[in-house]
Amino acid sequence: MILAIETSCDDTCAAVVHPDGEVRSNVIASQGLLHERYGGVVPELAARRHLELVDAVTADALERAGIGLDDVRTVAATRGPGLIGALLVGLSSAKALAAARGLPLVPVDHLHGHVVASTLRPDPIEPPYLCLVASGGHTFVARVDDPSSYERLGSTVDDAAGEAFDKGARILGLGYPGGPEIDRLARAGDPRAFAFPRAAPGELDFSFSGLKTSLLYRVRELGEEETARRRADLAASYQRAIVDALMARVESALDRERVERLAIGGGVAANSELRSAVERLGMRVWTPPLALCTDNAAMIAAAARFTEPLPYPEYLGLDAMARAA
Ligand code: KG4
Ligand code: ZN
Repeated sequence: MILAIETSCDDTCAAVVHPDGEVRSNVIASQGLLHERYGGVVPELAARRHLELVDAVTADALERAGIGLDDVRTVAATRGPGLIGALLVGLSSAKALAAARGLPLVPVDHLHGHVVASTLRPDPIEPPYLCLVASGGHTFVARVDDPSSYERLGSTVDDAAGEAFDKGARILGLGYPGGPEIDRLARAGDPRAFAFPRAAPGELDFSFSGLKTSLLYRVRELGEEETARRRADLAASYQRAIVDALMARVESALDRERVERLAIGGGVAANSELRSAVERLGMRVWTPPLALCTDNAAMIAAAARFTEPLPYPEYLGLDAMARAA
Protein backbone atom coordinates (compact mmCIF):
# COMPACT_ATOMS: atom_id res chain seq x y z
CA MET A 1 0.00 0.00 0.00
CA ILE A 2 1.06 3.56 -0.67
CA LEU A 3 0.44 6.15 2.05
CA ALA A 4 0.55 9.66 0.59
CA ILE A 5 0.54 13.06 2.29
CA GLU A 6 -0.18 16.39 0.57
CA THR A 7 0.14 19.78 2.29
CA SER A 8 1.21 22.15 -0.49
CA CYS A 9 -1.39 24.83 0.14
CA ASP A 10 -4.38 25.06 2.47
CA ASP A 11 -5.72 21.49 2.56
CA THR A 12 -4.26 18.85 4.85
CA CYS A 13 -4.57 15.60 2.89
CA ALA A 14 -3.66 11.94 3.34
CA ALA A 15 -4.62 8.91 1.26
CA VAL A 16 -4.06 5.20 0.99
CA VAL A 17 -3.82 3.86 -2.56
CA HIS A 18 -3.13 0.34 -3.81
CA PRO A 19 -0.30 0.18 -6.40
CA ASP A 20 -2.90 -0.93 -8.99
CA GLY A 21 -4.56 2.49 -8.63
CA GLU A 22 -7.44 1.63 -6.34
CA VAL A 23 -8.13 4.42 -3.86
CA ARG A 24 -8.68 2.89 -0.42
CA SER A 25 -9.09 6.23 1.36
CA ASN A 26 -8.72 9.90 0.48
CA VAL A 27 -9.03 12.29 3.41
CA ILE A 28 -9.09 16.06 2.93
CA ALA A 29 -9.20 18.46 5.88
CA SER A 30 -9.96 21.83 4.36
CA GLN A 31 -8.63 24.97 6.01
CA GLY A 32 -10.98 27.12 3.92
CA LEU A 33 -12.77 28.68 6.87
CA LEU A 34 -9.50 29.62 8.55
CA HIS A 35 -8.38 31.69 5.56
CA GLU A 36 -11.79 32.95 4.42
CA ARG A 37 -11.73 36.16 6.38
CA TYR A 38 -8.37 37.13 4.87
CA GLY A 39 -9.67 36.61 1.32
CA GLY A 40 -6.83 34.22 0.51
CA VAL A 41 -4.44 31.71 2.00
CA VAL A 42 -2.12 33.06 4.71
CA PRO A 43 1.04 30.90 4.40
CA GLU A 44 2.11 31.02 8.04
CA LEU A 45 -1.37 30.12 9.29
CA ALA A 46 -1.59 27.29 6.74
CA ALA A 47 1.70 25.75 7.91
CA ARG A 48 0.70 25.92 11.56
CA ARG A 49 -2.68 24.34 10.89
CA HIS A 50 -1.07 21.54 8.84
CA LEU A 51 1.09 20.78 11.86
CA GLU A 52 -2.00 20.50 14.06
CA LEU A 53 -3.90 18.32 11.57
CA VAL A 54 -1.40 16.10 9.79
CA ASP A 55 -1.20 13.27 12.34
CA ALA A 56 -4.96 13.02 12.76
CA VAL A 57 -5.60 13.17 9.02
CA THR A 58 -3.00 10.44 8.41
CA ALA A 59 -4.49 8.23 11.15
CA ASP A 60 -7.94 8.80 9.64
CA ALA A 61 -6.74 7.80 6.15
CA LEU A 62 -5.24 4.55 7.51
CA GLU A 63 -8.37 3.77 9.51
CA ARG A 64 -10.72 4.39 6.60
CA ALA A 65 -8.55 2.13 4.43
CA GLY A 66 -8.76 -0.53 7.14
CA ILE A 67 -5.00 -0.87 7.46
CA GLY A 68 -2.26 -0.07 9.95
CA LEU A 69 1.14 1.52 9.41
CA ASP A 70 2.64 -1.98 9.20
CA ASP A 71 0.73 -2.56 5.95
CA VAL A 72 2.30 0.49 4.28
CA ARG A 73 5.10 -0.35 1.83
CA THR A 74 5.78 3.11 0.42
CA VAL A 75 5.31 6.62 1.78
CA ALA A 76 4.81 9.47 -0.68
CA ALA A 77 4.67 13.21 -0.09
CA THR A 78 4.38 16.36 -2.14
CA ARG A 79 7.79 17.95 -2.52
CA GLY A 80 6.57 21.06 -4.36
CA PRO A 81 5.62 23.42 -5.83
CA GLY A 82 3.63 25.16 -3.12
CA LEU A 83 3.97 27.19 0.07
CA ILE A 84 7.33 26.26 1.53
CA GLY A 85 6.26 26.15 5.21
CA ALA A 86 3.17 24.13 4.33
CA LEU A 87 5.14 21.68 2.19
CA LEU A 88 7.74 21.13 4.91
CA VAL A 89 5.11 19.92 7.37
CA GLY A 90 3.84 17.14 5.06
CA LEU A 91 7.28 16.18 3.79
CA SER A 92 8.80 16.01 7.28
CA SER A 93 5.89 14.02 8.57
CA ALA A 94 6.21 11.56 5.66
CA LYS A 95 9.98 11.27 6.27
CA ALA A 96 9.38 10.47 9.94
CA LEU A 97 6.77 7.80 9.15
CA ALA A 98 8.98 6.22 6.51
CA ALA A 99 12.26 6.42 8.44
CA ALA A 100 10.77 4.85 11.57
CA ARG A 101 10.05 1.72 9.50
CA GLY A 102 12.95 1.91 7.06
CA LEU A 103 10.47 2.35 4.19
CA PRO A 104 11.21 4.06 0.88
CA LEU A 105 9.92 7.60 0.32
CA VAL A 106 8.65 9.01 -2.96
CA PRO A 107 8.95 12.79 -3.36
CA VAL A 108 6.16 13.87 -5.73
CA ASP A 109 5.70 16.89 -7.97
CA HIS A 110 2.28 18.32 -7.06
CA LEU A 111 1.48 19.11 -10.70
CA HIS A 112 2.40 15.58 -11.79
CA GLY A 113 -0.25 14.51 -9.26
CA HIS A 114 -2.92 16.66 -10.92
CA VAL A 115 -1.87 15.38 -14.37
CA VAL A 116 -2.11 11.68 -13.48
CA ALA A 117 -5.10 11.74 -11.09
CA SER A 118 -7.13 10.29 -13.96
CA THR A 119 -4.95 7.15 -14.04
CA LEU A 120 -6.60 6.02 -10.79
CA ARG A 121 -9.33 3.36 -10.76
CA PRO A 122 -12.14 2.63 -11.42
CA ASP A 123 -11.82 4.20 -14.88
CA PRO A 124 -8.13 4.89 -15.55
CA ILE A 125 -7.20 6.91 -18.63
CA GLU A 126 -4.63 5.38 -21.02
CA PRO A 127 -1.85 7.46 -22.60
CA PRO A 128 -1.41 9.21 -24.89
CA TYR A 129 -3.70 11.90 -23.51
CA LEU A 130 -3.80 15.63 -22.94
CA CYS A 131 -4.57 17.09 -19.53
CA LEU A 132 -5.86 20.54 -18.68
CA VAL A 133 -4.78 21.43 -15.15
CA ALA A 134 -6.51 24.55 -13.86
CA SER A 135 -6.17 25.31 -10.17
CA GLY A 136 -5.71 28.24 -7.84
CA GLY A 137 -1.97 28.26 -8.41
CA HIS A 138 -1.48 26.77 -11.89
CA THR A 139 -3.03 26.63 -15.33
CA PHE A 140 -1.49 24.60 -18.14
CA VAL A 141 -2.13 22.03 -20.82
CA ALA A 142 0.13 18.96 -20.75
CA ARG A 143 0.73 15.99 -22.97
CA VAL A 144 1.24 12.57 -21.39
CA ASP A 145 2.78 9.73 -23.41
CA ASP A 146 3.95 7.83 -20.36
CA PRO A 147 2.53 8.62 -16.90
CA SER A 148 6.01 8.90 -15.38
CA SER A 149 6.30 12.37 -16.90
CA TYR A 150 4.41 15.06 -18.78
CA GLU A 151 5.21 17.74 -21.31
CA ARG A 152 3.81 21.22 -20.82
CA LEU A 153 2.37 22.52 -24.09
CA GLY A 154 1.19 25.90 -22.82
CA SER A 155 0.76 27.70 -19.49
CA THR A 156 -0.64 30.87 -18.04
CA VAL A 157 1.64 33.89 -18.40
CA ASP A 158 0.10 35.62 -15.35
CA ASP A 159 -2.82 34.55 -13.12
CA ALA A 160 -4.05 30.99 -12.84
CA ALA A 161 -7.68 30.28 -13.81
CA GLY A 162 -8.63 29.58 -10.19
CA GLU A 163 -6.97 32.83 -9.17
CA ALA A 164 -9.08 34.61 -11.80
CA PHE A 165 -12.19 33.07 -10.22
CA ASP A 166 -11.03 33.99 -6.71
CA LYS A 167 -10.09 37.59 -7.60
CA GLY A 168 -13.26 38.04 -9.65
CA ALA A 169 -15.34 36.81 -6.73
CA ARG A 170 -13.64 39.28 -4.45
CA ILE A 171 -14.41 42.14 -6.86
CA LEU A 172 -18.04 40.99 -6.90
CA GLY A 173 -18.14 40.90 -3.10
CA LEU A 174 -18.48 37.12 -2.92
CA GLY A 175 -16.78 34.73 -0.49
CA TYR A 176 -13.52 32.77 -0.72
CA PRO A 177 -12.76 30.49 -2.51
CA GLY A 178 -14.49 32.29 -5.32
CA GLY A 179 -14.80 29.51 -7.91
CA PRO A 180 -17.72 27.67 -6.34
CA GLU A 181 -19.45 31.01 -5.54
CA ILE A 182 -19.22 32.28 -9.12
CA ASP A 183 -20.21 28.86 -10.45
CA ARG A 184 -23.36 28.88 -8.32
CA LEU A 185 -24.31 32.49 -9.03
CA ALA A 186 -23.63 32.17 -12.77
CA ARG A 187 -26.44 29.64 -13.13
CA ALA A 188 -28.94 32.45 -12.53
CA GLY A 189 -27.22 34.91 -14.89
CA ASP A 190 -26.90 35.66 -18.62
CA PRO A 191 -23.38 34.83 -19.91
CA ARG A 192 -23.87 37.24 -22.84
CA ALA A 193 -24.86 40.22 -20.68
CA PHE A 194 -21.34 41.67 -20.50
CA ALA A 195 -18.46 41.48 -22.96
CA PHE A 196 -15.18 40.52 -21.30
CA PRO A 197 -11.86 40.14 -23.16
CA ARG A 198 -10.33 36.80 -24.18
CA ALA A 199 -6.58 37.41 -24.18
CA ALA A 200 -4.43 35.37 -26.57
CA PRO A 201 -0.78 35.61 -25.43
CA GLY A 202 0.22 32.58 -27.51
CA GLU A 203 -1.29 29.64 -29.32
CA LEU A 204 -1.50 27.47 -26.21
CA ASP A 205 -0.76 30.01 -23.45
CA PHE A 206 -3.28 31.67 -21.15
CA SER A 207 -3.59 35.14 -19.65
CA PHE A 208 -6.22 36.12 -17.11
CA SER A 209 -5.00 39.32 -15.49
CA GLY A 210 -6.60 41.60 -18.12
CA LEU A 211 -9.94 39.89 -17.60
CA LYS A 212 -9.84 40.57 -13.88
CA THR A 213 -9.01 44.25 -14.50
CA SER A 214 -11.82 44.50 -17.00
CA LEU A 215 -14.28 43.19 -14.40
CA LEU A 216 -12.96 45.70 -11.89
CA TYR A 217 -13.58 48.61 -14.31
CA ARG A 218 -17.05 47.31 -15.16
CA VAL A 219 -18.00 47.10 -11.49
CA ARG A 220 -16.72 50.65 -10.90
CA GLU A 221 -18.76 51.94 -13.85
CA LEU A 222 -21.91 50.21 -12.65
CA GLY A 223 -21.64 51.43 -9.07
CA GLU A 224 -22.57 49.51 -5.97
CA GLU A 225 -26.32 49.22 -6.41
CA GLU A 226 -26.31 48.25 -10.06
CA THR A 227 -23.47 45.76 -9.46
CA ALA A 228 -25.52 44.11 -6.74
CA ARG A 229 -28.58 43.96 -9.03
CA ARG A 230 -26.60 42.46 -11.92
CA ARG A 231 -24.22 40.27 -9.94
CA ALA A 232 -25.49 37.04 -11.51
CA ASP A 233 -25.05 38.43 -15.05
CA LEU A 234 -21.55 39.65 -14.18
CA ALA A 235 -20.64 36.26 -12.70
CA ALA A 236 -22.05 34.37 -15.70
CA SER A 237 -20.26 36.59 -18.25
CA TYR A 238 -16.99 36.47 -16.33
CA GLN A 239 -17.16 32.70 -15.98
CA ARG A 240 -17.97 32.34 -19.69
CA ALA A 241 -14.81 34.33 -20.55
CA ILE A 242 -12.62 32.03 -18.41
CA VAL A 243 -14.18 28.83 -19.74
CA ASP A 244 -13.96 30.08 -23.35
CA ALA A 245 -10.25 30.84 -22.87
CA LEU A 246 -9.58 27.39 -21.40
CA MET A 247 -11.56 25.58 -24.09
CA ALA A 248 -9.95 27.46 -26.96
CA ARG A 249 -6.47 26.25 -25.88
CA VAL A 250 -7.67 22.72 -25.17
CA GLU A 251 -9.23 22.45 -28.62
CA SER A 252 -6.12 23.83 -30.35
CA ALA A 253 -3.90 21.44 -28.41
CA LEU A 254 -6.04 18.39 -29.18
CA ASP A 255 -6.02 19.37 -32.82
CA ARG A 256 -2.30 20.08 -33.04
CA GLU A 257 -1.21 17.00 -31.07
CA ARG A 258 -3.71 14.68 -32.79
CA VAL A 259 -4.69 13.18 -29.47
CA GLU A 260 -8.24 12.11 -28.77
CA ARG A 261 -8.21 11.60 -25.03
CA LEU A 262 -8.55 14.46 -22.58
CA ALA A 263 -8.42 14.63 -18.79
CA ILE A 264 -9.10 17.69 -16.67
CA GLY A 265 -7.74 18.37 -13.21
CA GLY A 266 -7.18 21.06 -10.60
CA GLY A 267 -9.87 22.81 -8.57
CA VAL A 268 -11.35 24.62 -11.59
CA ALA A 269 -12.17 21.21 -13.12
CA ALA A 270 -15.02 21.26 -10.60
CA ASN A 271 -16.60 24.10 -12.57
CA SER A 272 -19.95 23.02 -13.97
CA GLU A 273 -19.71 25.12 -17.15
CA LEU A 274 -16.21 23.81 -17.93
CA ARG A 275 -17.42 20.25 -17.36
CA SER A 276 -20.32 20.69 -19.78
CA ALA A 277 -17.99 22.30 -22.33
CA VAL A 278 -15.53 19.38 -22.32
CA GLU A 279 -18.38 16.90 -22.52
CA ARG A 280 -19.55 18.66 -25.70
CA LEU A 281 -16.17 17.97 -27.37
CA GLY A 282 -17.60 14.65 -28.49
CA MET A 283 -14.59 12.59 -27.40
CA ARG A 284 -13.81 10.47 -24.37
CA VAL A 285 -13.07 12.91 -21.53
CA TRP A 286 -11.96 12.04 -18.00
CA THR A 287 -13.54 14.42 -15.50
CA PRO A 288 -12.52 12.95 -12.17
CA PRO A 289 -14.77 13.17 -9.11
CA LEU A 290 -14.38 16.45 -7.22
CA ALA A 291 -12.32 14.86 -4.45
CA LEU A 292 -9.67 14.03 -7.07
CA CYS A 293 -9.83 17.45 -8.80
CA THR A 294 -9.09 19.78 -5.91
CA ASP A 295 -5.90 19.20 -3.94
CA ASN A 296 -5.82 15.69 -2.50
CA ALA A 297 -3.32 13.01 -1.54
CA ALA A 298 -4.74 10.22 -3.74
CA MET A 299 -3.35 12.02 -6.79
CA ILE A 300 0.03 12.23 -5.04
CA ALA A 301 -0.07 8.47 -4.54
CA ALA A 302 -1.10 8.13 -8.20
CA ALA A 303 2.03 9.99 -9.30
CA ALA A 304 4.17 8.09 -6.76
CA ARG A 305 3.39 4.89 -8.69
CA PHE A 306 5.32 6.34 -11.64
CA THR A 307 8.16 8.03 -9.70
CA GLU A 308 11.46 6.53 -8.53
CA PRO A 309 11.36 5.93 -4.74
CA LEU A 310 14.30 6.96 -2.56
CA PRO A 311 15.49 4.18 -0.25
CA TYR A 312 15.96 4.77 3.49
CA PRO A 313 17.93 6.82 4.60
CA GLU A 314 18.66 8.73 1.38
CA TYR A 315 15.65 11.01 1.71
CA LEU A 316 16.37 12.32 5.19
CA GLY A 317 18.11 15.44 3.87
CA LEU A 318 15.58 16.03 1.08
CA ASP A 319 14.26 19.58 0.88
CA ALA A 320 10.86 20.86 -0.21
CA MET A 321 10.74 23.14 -3.25
CA ALA A 322 8.46 26.18 -3.45
CA ARG A 323 8.78 26.43 -7.24
CA ALA A 324 8.39 23.92 -10.03
CA ALA A 325 11.69 22.27 -10.97
O1 KG4 B 1 -6.55 22.50 -7.04
P1 KG4 B 1 -7.00 23.41 -5.96
O2 KG4 B 1 -7.83 22.82 -4.85
O3 KG4 B 1 -5.80 24.11 -5.26
C1 KG4 B 1 -4.68 24.57 -5.91
O4 KG4 B 1 -3.74 23.76 -6.15
O5 KG4 B 1 -4.68 25.78 -6.23
O6 KG4 B 1 -7.80 24.59 -6.66
C2 KG4 B 1 -8.43 25.60 -5.94
C3 KG4 B 1 -9.04 26.57 -6.93
C4 KG4 B 1 -9.58 27.83 -6.28
O7 KG4 B 1 -9.06 28.93 -6.99
C5 KG4 B 1 -11.08 27.72 -6.46
O8 KG4 B 1 -11.73 28.96 -6.60
C6 KG4 B 1 -11.19 26.91 -7.71
O9 KG4 B 1 -10.13 25.97 -7.62
N1 KG4 B 1 -12.49 26.22 -7.82
C7 KG4 B 1 -13.39 26.49 -8.78
C8 KG4 B 1 -14.53 25.69 -8.49
N2 KG4 B 1 -14.26 24.96 -7.37
C9 KG4 B 1 -13.00 25.29 -6.97
N3 KG4 B 1 -13.34 27.32 -9.82
C10 KG4 B 1 -14.42 27.37 -10.61
N4 KG4 B 1 -15.56 26.67 -10.39
C11 KG4 B 1 -15.66 25.82 -9.35
N5 KG4 B 1 -16.79 25.11 -9.15
ZN1 ZN C 1 -3.24 21.79 -6.77
